[in-house]
This record gives sequence, structure tokens and C-alpha cells, in this order.
Amino acid sequence: MADTPKPIHPIWLRLTHWLNALAVVILAMSGWLIYNASPFFGITFPVAITLGGWLGGAILWHFAAMWLLAASGLAYLLCNALSGRLRSRFLPLSFRAVLADLRAASRGRLTHDDPGRYNAVQRAAYLLVMVDAVLLILSGLVLWKSVQLPLLRELLGGYEAARRVHFIAMAVMVSFALIHVIMVALVPRSLLTMIRGR
Ligand code: HEM
Repeated sequence: MADTPKPIHPIWLRLTHWLNALAVVILAMSGWLIYNASPFFGITFPVAITLGGWLGGAILWHFAAMWLLAASGLAYLLCNALSGRLRSRFLPLSFRAVLADLRAASRGRLTHDDPGRYNAVQRAAYLLVMVDAVLLILSGLVLWKSVQLPLLRELLGGYEAARRVHFIAMAVMVSFALIHVIMVALVPRSLLTMIRGR
């Protein structure tokens, strides 16, 4: 039997990636409806892009997907760190390299020939979204169990500040996801790799 080459994206990565993406979509859409019930910025979200139908329904969706993101996100981070993939795929990374790749991209000169290697902009964006997901979960924990987690609550500046931190971390995550999907559409082969592994 012929040797099957090692996949570019191992199975655990593909599985956790799609579970994380599903959880983020459910969390964002249900979260917008929860926010609408007591908005603290000058905006509310159109009901058509929310999930849950009413406040209680949105909270149920949010709590279900929060466990999915916590479990799948943690599994992704642990497997990534312990397998050494985090270091080999995302490092080294420098501000200068990100600027150089952004400049190359703006001139249409950033190649994506090798799906096994991320450019500096991808590395920075993926690392940012990992940190952002941790912040989303920690600030979410404060909103959920604020009395039981006084240290975490005070570290984030109190309950009301934690709401704003959670909102801003959501905005970063949603902006990432939108740009991410546009970039994937520009390089459709990367989508096949994230589905089939190669
Ligand atoms: C339906 C929407 C999404 C699609 C179609 C998609 C697709 C992809 C594809 C094709 C890659 C591989 C990129 C490449 O090889 O150049 C990738 C990587 C990645 N995506 Fe997504 N993605 C989606 C949503 C998300 C969301 C919501 C998150 C945030 C939780 C996310 C986080 C990541 C991360 C961190 C990586 C790098 C994974 C690694 O190599 O460790 N994606 N995505």
C-alpha cells in the first residue's frame, strides 16, 4: 500500500477549527440579542441577524455554544501547544515581517503557494484571535459568575467594565472572521486543505 503523506492540517485541527467556527457564529448571533436587551453603546443589532427569538432563547443558545467554544478552543490550544505546531507554524514573528507582508499584499505580490506555511500577516491574525478568544471566555466567565469570581471580575475592572471588554473582544472576533472568510474566498484551495487535510 502506498504511503499516505502527512496531512497539512491534522484531523484534530480541522475538527476543532470547524467546531470553533460554529460556536463563534452561534455565540455572536445570540450575544447580539442579549446585548439588545440592555445596550450600553449607541447601537443595537437588527433582530434579523440574531439568534434565539427572545432574551431567554438567546441566553440558552449562548450558554450551549459557550461550552462548545470552551471545550473545542481549549482542545485546539492544547494540541497546538503540546504538538510543537504552535511554535513551528506561528513563530518567528516580528512587527517588521508583518509590515513587509502587508506591503507585499497591497501590491498583489504576496504568494500563497505553500498551504503548509503561513505568512506573517496570517501568523499575527491567528495569534491575535487565539488571545482574543481567551479574553472572550474570561470576560464571559465574569458576566456569568461575577459573585463567584471576584478576582477575575476586579482584574477586568468590575462587572460593567467586563461587559464592555466582552463586547470589544466580540467585535475583534467578528472582524477577524469577516476578513478571514474574504481571504479564504481569494485562495479557495486553502478551504479544501482545511476540509480534507491536504
Ligand atoms: C465559516 C467560516 C470560516 C472559514 C471558511 C474558515 C476557513 C479557514 C481556512 C481555509 C483556514 C486555513 C488557512 C490557510 O491555510 O491559509 C483557516 C485557518 C484558521 N482559522 Fe478559520 N475559517 C472560518 C472561521 C473561523 C473562525 C470563526 C475562527 C475563530 C475562532 C477561525 C480561526 C482560524 C484559525 C486560528 C486558523 C489557523 C489554524 C491553525 O493553523 O492553527 N476560523 N480557516
